[in-house]
Amino acid sequence: MLNISSLVRHIALLAVVVLPAGCSCSDSDPQPVRPDVKKEETGYTIGMSQCNLGEPWRVQMNADIEAAAKRHPDLKVVFKDAQNDTLKQRAHVEEFVSQGVDLIIISPKEAQPLTEPVAKAFSAGIPVIVLDRAVIGDKYTCFIGADNEKIGLAAGKWLIKKLGGKGRIIELKGLMTSTPAQDRHAGFREALIHHPGIRVLFEVDMQWLEPEAREEMESALARFERIDAVYAHNDPGAHGAYLAAKAVGREKDIVFVGVDALPQEGIAYVKQGILGATFQYPTGGSEAIATALKILGGEEVPKAIVLDSRYFTAENVDQGGAPIEEL
Ligand code: FRU
Repeated sequence: MLNISSLVRHIALLAVVVLPAGCSCSDSDPQPVRPDVKKEETGYTIGMSQCNLGEPWRVQMNADIEAAAKRHPDLKVVFKDAQNDTLKQRAHVEEFVSQGVDLIIISPKEAQPLTEPVAKAFSAGIPVIVLDRAVIGDKYTCFIGADNEKIGLAAGKWLIKKLGGKGRIIELKGLMTSTPAQDRHAGFREALIHHPGIRVLFEVDMQWLEPEAREEMESALARFERIDAVYAHNDPGAHGAYLAAKAVGREKDIVFVGVDALPQEGIAYVKQGILGATFQYPTGGSEAIATALKILGGEEVPKAIVLDSRYFTAENVDQGGAPIEEL
């Protein structure tokens, strides 16, 4: 039989379950509210923790954030670069908390080690927007990013078609302790399931880095006489693989596929015939600022904002690419 207190608990539980999915108010452990959030007079300070600025894509993300924030004179963004060092990034988040910033945006290097400092900031009442790479659990305000599994699946479908259902592939994976690499891998493998004519010869973690990708591709080229395609989890990786193949005169035998599609990087490579295809991974910088403004203004925001992606090939690049759903 239910007594009063267990009935109350029961009702409370039902309330948590029935709230719309994706709503920040569905947190089982709601974020404490800080009393000083309304700051129209003095302006707001946002702390932005970037995991590294070594790749053009991350430089672009910061530039997108800066450009969007500039349109709002009451916003000040303090940027920190963790230089691909997880411990440094953990310290940056802790510094933002002790400085009492009004909101944190973080693009974390790895999921697991950044989960705790993000959760601590959130529990201290500071809203946290997690951008592009996820953390574990739900102790943050909002996650913004594209659907990496869908991107991996689309890349797989495109490649299967391009190779006529038959071929030998190398997969150069991003840092596998980060969520986009895990999801781009899972989606790609899902696409291959019913295509026994496609064989992945070799897969390796190139940590998102062009020099690593180039080195791994050099050893793959030495080991395998026939390689038909390279699926790299980002455009720097695909470009590194291309350079390795070019150095031994094999680049024309191989189709290179990457992810990111920055105009000055992946899209330019497609136009130059270096990449067969690139899949867009939007930085989410301007969406992060739009979402930050809503949070600071007291509005509720969804728990996850999923950004669209397009793909670019020699056939569609001049028309601005096409949505990945078409594949
Ligand atoms: C840059 C980057 C991008 C990639 C993203 C994934 O650091 O490697 O190339 O799409 O991170 O988080």
